[in-house]
Amino acid sequence: MHLVDQELSEPYSIFTYRYFVYLWPQLCFLAFHRGRCVGTVVCKMGEHRHTFRGYIAMLVVIKAYRGKGIATDLVTRSIKVMMESGCDEVTLEAEVTNKGALALYGGLGFIRAKRLFRYYLNGVDAFRLKLLFPRPDLQPSLQTLAYKDEHDYQIPIEGCSTNCSKF
Ligand SMILES: CC(C)(COP(=O)(O)OP(=O)(O)OC[C@H]1O[C@@H](n2cnc3c(N)ncnc32)[C@H](O)[C@@H]1OP(=O)(O)O)[C@@H](O)C(=O)NCCC(=O)NCCS
Repeated sequence: MHLVDQELSEPYSIFTYRYFVYLWPQLCFLAFHRGRCVGTVVCKMGEHRHTFRGYIAMLVVIKAYRGKGIATDLVTRSIKVMMESGCDEVTLEAEVTNKGALALYGGLGFIRAKRLFRYYLNGVDAFRLKLLFPRPDLQPSLQTLAYKDEHDYQIPIEGCSTNCSKF
């Protein structure tokens, strides 16, 4: 809790942590070095609008341990469990100003699906990021289908500037 409270802008209560850890313990990973917790990822999964969706709620690596691939490893492990559990996609929100997180998730294949105006309590907008798992049974490309996904508007991470007006 201390780790997340320190590094994320949103305040979370003990109940939020319990909700994730008790219901999806297989989707919560901690990274340790010499007995000290240096990073964590907290996720969940469930039905969402006719899909089975994974959701990454919190991701933190303490400053001294950043740039070593720890977050990538934590996220990759949680995504692997989601894939093996039958998820069709993974989503999360990140502050539009969070260059590190956006670069990390972009590198893992996440796309910017939506911009959420003043999503955070601090007034900052969020990007909803989405990773679609390949479905070999679907003939049209995933990208084509993604454009039809309700109000979502899919933009590849690399092709979007922060002032996209489509959202
Ligand atoms: C974002 C965060 C989790 C990254 O943790 P990390 O362990 O340093 O990440 P990794 O080492 O796995 O980085 C993987 C890639 O992400 C990108 N990246 C990570 N931090 C970056 C930064 N500050 N600036 C630019 N790119 C960054 C790089 O492309 C990096 O690959 P590279 O090292 O080969 O260049 C960490 O900075 C953090 O805890 N930040 C505060 C909390 C936060 O913002 N959480 C995310 C909420 S959505």
